[in-house]
Amino acid sequence: MKKYDLIVIGSGPGGYVSAIRSAQLGLKTAIVEKYSSLGGTCLNVGCIPSKAILDSSERFFSANKHFSEHGINFNNVNFDIKKMMERKDKIVKQTCNGLNFLMKKNKIDVYKGTASFQNKSSITVNSDKLSNEIQSEYFIIATGSKPTELAGIKNDKKRIISSTQALSLKEVPNELIIIGGGVIGIELGSVYARLGTKITVLEYSDYLINSFDKSLSKELKKILIKNLSFDIQLNFEVKTVKSVGNKVIITGLNKNKEEIIYKTDYCLLSVGRSPYTKGLNLNKIGIKLSASGKIIVDNNLKTNVSNIFAIGDVIDGPMLAHKAEEEGVYVAEYISGQKPHLNYNLIPNVIYSWPEVASVGKTEQELISSGIKYKVGDFPFKALGRSRVSGDLDGFVKVLADEISDEILGVHMIGPRVADLISEAVVAMEYRASAEDIARICHAHPTFSEAIKEAALNASEKRALHI
Ligand code: FAD
Ligand code: NAI
Repeated sequence: MKKYDLIVIGSGPGGYVSAIRSAQLGLKTAIVEKYSSLGGTCLNVGCIPSKAILDSSERFFSANKHFSEHGINFNNVNFDIKKMMERKDKIVKQTCNGLNFLMKKNKIDVYKGTASFQNKSSITVNSDKLSNEIQSEYFIIATGSKPTELAGIKNDKKRIISSTQALSLKEVPNELIIIGGGVIGIELGSVYARLGTKITVLEYSDYLINSFDKSLSKELKKILIKNLSFDIQLNFEVKTVKSVGNKVIITGLNKNKEEIIYKTDYCLLSVGRSPYTKGLNLNKIGIKLSASGKIIVDNNLKTNVSNIFAIGDVIDGPMLAHKAEEEGVYVAEYISGQKPHLNYNLIPNVIYSWPEVASVGKTEQELISSGIKYKVGDFPFKALGRSRVSGDLDGFVKVLADEISDEILGVHMIGPRVADLISEAVVAMEYRASAEDIARICHAHPTFSEAIKEAALNASEKRALHI
């Protein structure tokens, strides 16, 4: 029987990154993946394909709505969804194939099949064709998550769909109703709205993207209604969802408790994701799960079985690729005897709508509820030269700083390219910068990044220059 120093179960961004880091550190490493391609949710049915079609749809929308302002005129701008999906599939394939190369380069053995614990130092890997038993000193469970299902609502994968099917529709729907106004609902709703679909969002809570700073939720709602004609129903309680022929019938109660019936072409269920541990046989080795099915780990990401670790979506915390990656690196370094560092307060959160949304650190609501005294500095993109030249005038940057020390506690932005801009805030906060530190750093002109400097000037001393 083959024996490894480390076996990683699951090849998403948590799993494959931890395998690479372990191999770099000299551990004899294997990775097990039950799907035919490596890369997990992120590469196959998550981050990469969604960003590919977000990009295509935004170009089409821009060509239709904005090119003429620049003097660029077309006789007939049309859209070929088949071509968009083929491009997306090609990008996914190339990215996943890149992982095969990285596994080879780092001499990581790849096993295809479902991993199942036999005892705390061995697993079987079962595929259609064979069953392999392999041993290891350490394991990392990185089995990710699956879309959460709503009780009594059957995802038929044709008309009532999850993000996985929404990433591969063969037609542009006339109408799409999205249950859940979180990250997936906003991103995939934006894709189809740009292509001409009438989007209705039914959200249970009183805010869209309710884990973000509420100022971002409100601004995003306004922008989606203004730019993409979203119909957004908050405080909506969905009761039933049924496929009838080529339509979906949805019933529920609106915020005034009136019964509403919708008839639509497709219904996207995007009400969160749940940890995935099926088939691992965790009972057999006594690994403890929380009430919501997440694997319980300590501060070093160790489960209650001392040689088995867990990372990524299958444990607590934000379900984000870069969070899974950081945890993967952490465990690889920890079991190699290093003293790694991971600051959960500084995991940025991004939504790839247009304009984009990005956030790091504490929200204003969190600061209020923990009684921390803070100052706020904000700056609208419309006051920025760079935004005027590109026509990206929506949104703002908001910097929250400690009232006394001026240390930056949170940065929340909605605007052009803020997905990239947020890194400045993460770096500053990692080094515990004050708002004044950012305000005194020279930012190139004209760039979107000047909005961060101006917001920091406002947070520090209420002295933004361009407003
Ligand atoms: P996963 O990526 O879910 O990988 C787990 C892997 O484990 C899977 O390949 C699975 O087949 C395998 N597996 C499970 N059980 C077994 C077993 N018993 N044996 C062998 N293999 C097994 N995050 C971002 O940060 N940015 C984004 O832009 C973004 N966009 C997203 C868009 C969509 C539509 C979705 C659905 C998610 C998106 N996410 C994004 C979230 C991101 O995809 C996840 O947070 C990330 O993939 C989690 O990584 P992971 O390694 O924990 O698990
Ligand atoms: P989410 O947690 O972002 O949003 C789910 C929404 O559904 C919430 O607003 C919630 O209030 C609502 N909801 C729950 N039950 C409901 C019900 N019965 N009726 C109506 N609304 C209901 O989850 P989502 O959008 O499914 O995404 C899953 C995960 O994937 C997220 O945690 C996110 O981090 C990750 N992801 C990240 C992306 C990124 O980083 N850009 C992109 C897409 C997904």
